[in-house]
Amino acid sequence: MHLGRTTLSKFLIQQLKGIEGASDLAALLIDVAAATKTISSMTAKGALGGYLGEVGNTNVQGESQKKLDVLADDAMIRSCEWGGLVAGMASEELDEPYAIPDEFQRGNYLLVFDPLDGSSNTDVNVSVGTIFSVLRHDKAEAPVTADYLQTGRKQVAAGYAIYGPATMLVLTVGKGTHGFTLDREIGNYILTHPNLAIPEDTNEFAINTSNARFWESPVHRYVTECQAGRAGERGRDFNMRWIASMVAEVHRILMRGGVFMYPKDTKDSAKPGRLRLMYEANPISFLIEQAGGLSTTGRKYLLDVVPEGLHQRIPVILGSRNEVARIERYHLEHDAGTDRPFESPLFNERSLFRPEARV
Ligand code: AHG
Ligand code: MN
Ligand code: MN
Repeated sequence: MHLGRTTLSKFLIQQLKGIEGASDLAALLIDVAAATKTISSMTAKGALGGYLGEVGNTNVQGESQKKLDVLADDAMIRSCEWGGLVAGMASEELDEPYAIPDEFQRGNYLLVFDPLDGSSNTDVNVSVGTIFSVLRHDKAEAPVTADYLQTGRKQVAAGYAIYGPATMLVLTVGKGTHGFTLDREIGNYILTHPNLAIPEDTNEFAINTSNARFWESPVHRYVTECQAGRAGERGRDFNMRWIASMVAEVHRILMRGGVFMYPKDTKDSAKPGRLRLMYEANPISFLIEQAGGLSTTGRKYLLDVVPEGLHQRIPVILGSRNEVARIERYHLEHDAGTDRPFESPLFNERSLFRPEARV
């Protein structure tokens, strides 16, 4: 009954046919997939594996590391360092890029990853994931940090694994976005969701509304209009979701549409957003665009942002294209001063409560 199914390796051989460096890229993605199977097994064991809880130190982001953050990081590094495929790796959990040990050969790819996204959810048994981005490195020398700082458009592959009720791998090599489901019995990822297409319209948005007082007014405008539902500007009711696991939100959007926002806010002036450009926003934006969606900072396509640092944070607004285009328009109108004051007396353009009026 399993005969004829498309495994990840078969899919990659078919998709990458004729592309320069194809076999190395396929081999690297197979190594990445192998790491995600290990991480999937650890997250699935949960408390029985002794994997829950904190390590007791903080990473470069100033966030306390979970045991699973560190174990997932090790799993990716061990799975991908030995094969002569990567020139170097960079991770959310490492201050500096990981240098390939001298005993191994270096290849032509850079692997950048978030080993465990949404890790605040591990102890409460909610879906988490691994996000990865593959860039080229066509130099003989070992990469330095500057070599990693390429725009998202230069990615040759990107994807995530989601550890939910089922473990799935969602991948793009620039020819559409495709979903695979892990068949645990045989240990293979099987193509189950080819050519994902995000609906252009949606009635669902995702944002952490506890940050509302720190938002810019275009985001207030959009969310206020959604909340007004049928009686308001939009003339229809909206639904809201917030899982606090970007991979889980993005997966829902790839399956049935929606908008996800972690916008610019004034919560901490040192952080122009919550999510990290290189290993969260860029790979996810590549997947979203390849599935027909849009991904923007509100003012610029995310994939066009020129990175300034490995751990740089960035505002993220992505999903169903008509809604994202609308939110982008609200930003443009705001910046041009042409947006009309909207209904809420708390947040209209003259209000002292307007976030920008208070910084
Ligand atoms: P990470 O666990 O890798 O640090 O990333 C968590 C991110 C992302 O997954 C999620 O969308 C967001 O942080 C949640 O933020 P809040 O806790 O502010 O809701
Ligand atoms: Mn993350
Ligand atoms: Mn993480």
